Amino acid sequence: MARAWPALALLGCLAQGCDLPGKPKQSDRYIPPQDEISFNTLFQQNCAGCHGTEGKLGPAPALNDKLFLALVPDAELQTVISKGRPGTLMPPFANSDGGGLTAEQVRILAEGIKAHWGGVESDSAGAPPYLLQPTKAGAAQSKEGAQVFARACASCHGDHGKGGETVGAINDPDFLALISDQALRRIVITGRPELGMPGYADPKGRQEDFKPLTSEEVTDLVALLASWRQGEAIATKGN
Ligand code: HEC
Ligand code: HEC
Repeated sequence: MARAWPALALLGCLAQGCDLPGKPKQSDRYIPPQDEISFNTLFQQNCAGCHGTEGKLGPAPALNDKLFLALVPDAELQTVISKGRPGTLMPPFANSDGGGLTAEQVRILAEGIKAHWGGVESDSAGAPPYLLQPTKAGAAQSKEGAQVFARACASCHGDHGKGGETVGAINDPDFLALISDQALRRIVITGRPELGMPGYADPKGRQEDFKPLTSEEVTDLVALLASWRQGEAIATKGN
C-alpha cells in the first residue's frame, strides 16, 4: 500500500492545492501493526531479538547464511515462520497459529530473508539436502554416527561430544532438548562460520583425510545427537 502514497498525494495536490511544508512525513505516519509491510521493520520487531539484527550472531541459528538460504526450500521458510518449531524456542508467528502476523506478513518475511541475504553460493552444488532424510533403525544408525563423529567432530568437541580444549560440550541433554533434529542437521551442514564451527565440506580443524560429509553421514550424526538427547552419551562415555 505504501507505494501508492506519492501518487495519491499528488492527486490531492492537483485537486486542492498543496501545503506540503509542515505536513507529517510519510515515514512518520502511524502504521497499524497488521498493515506493516516493510521487511526490515517486521524483522527487527519480531525476529532480531533471537536471530540478531542482521540475521546473525543472535542466540538462534543465523538466517543470513548463504549456504542455508541456498538449501532451505521456500515452503519450509513459510512453514517454520508460520508454525514455529514446537518444542524449541522458535515461536509460531501466523495469526492462524496463534501468532501476531498476517499471512501476508509471514510471506514478506519468508521471501525477504532470501531476497536480502541469499545469493549465489557456488559451493551449494553437491551439498546434502537441508530437510531431514528418512532414518534407518535407530541403534545401528547412531553407531555409524559415532564413527562419523570421531572423524569429523571429536577433534573440536571431544570424545562423545563431552567438550574439547576450546570448544564446548554438545552432549548435554538439556542443551539438546531445545534443538530440533532439523536444526541439528542444518548446523552440521552449514556449520556456524560466525563462531568458528566448520560446515559439512570444510576441512578446517579436522583430520587430514577429511572428506565432505554425505547426506547419509549427516543423517547418522543427527541420529547420534538425538540419542544423546535421551541421555545416552553419559551411558556410553568411556567406551
Ligand atoms: C524467542 C526466540 C526466537 C524468535 C523471536 C524467532 N526465532 Fe526463529 N528460531 C529460533 C530458534 C531457537 C530456532 C531453532 C529451532 C530449532 O531447534 O529447530 C529458530 C529457527 C528459525 C528458522 C529455521 C532455521 C533453520 O536453521 O532451520 C527460521 C527460518 C526462523 N527461525 C525464522 C524466524 C523469523 C523470520 C522470526 C521473526 C518473525 C523468528 N524466527 C523469530 C528462535 C526464535
Ligand atoms: C574446528 C572445530 C569444530 C569442528 C570440527 C566441529 N565443531 Fe561444532 N562447534 C564448534 C564451535 C567453535 C562451536 C560454537 C560453540 C562453542 O564454542 O561451543 C560449535 C557448535 C556446535 C553446536 C552447537 C550449535 C549451536 O547453535 O549452539 C553443535 C550442535 C555442533 N557444533 C555440532 C558439531 C558436529 C556434529 C560436528 C561434526 C560434524 C562439529 N560440530 C564439528 C567447532 C567445531
